Amino acid sequence: MIMYSDIVIDHFMSPRNAHTMPDADAEGSVGDPSCGDCLVIYIKVKDDRIHDISYLVFGCCGAIASSSMTSELAKGKTLEEALAITEDDVVLALGGLPESKIHCSLMGVGALRKAIGNYYEQAQRKEIIHETSYTR
Ligand code: FES
Repeated sequence: MIMYSDIVIDHFMSPRNAHTMPDADAEGSVGDPSCGDCLVIYIKVKDDRIHDISYLVFGCCGAIASSSMTSELAKGKTLEEALAITEDDVVLALGGLPESKIHCSLMGVGALRKAIGNYYEQAQRKEIIHETSYTR
């Protein structure tokens, strides 16, 4: 039987920030082919900071709790600080994960990094469009 920490159970039973975000500034998704679980993270950015974050997750207890904890760790952080969040940070904040569930923590961090990457790409594209229209 897999034993989870009380924190994991709490985030699994009451996931934080679990909803879609139609007006998100960016999003990032990951899927784990080994188990079929998937996660999409949405972010809203204000003054280079993660102003709001949410996600939709399909997966196991570890995936749900890790997504929830990743969103809590990233909320309010600058993009640079959020990019520095590691799988170990998530596992530690969850009070540990069983060895067979460590890979679940990769999903939250992976999707968060993709969402931030997506935000930078969009910002760069907007800048190019702005410069192009300005020089015409
Ligand atoms: Fe695959 Fe949890 S078992 S993410």
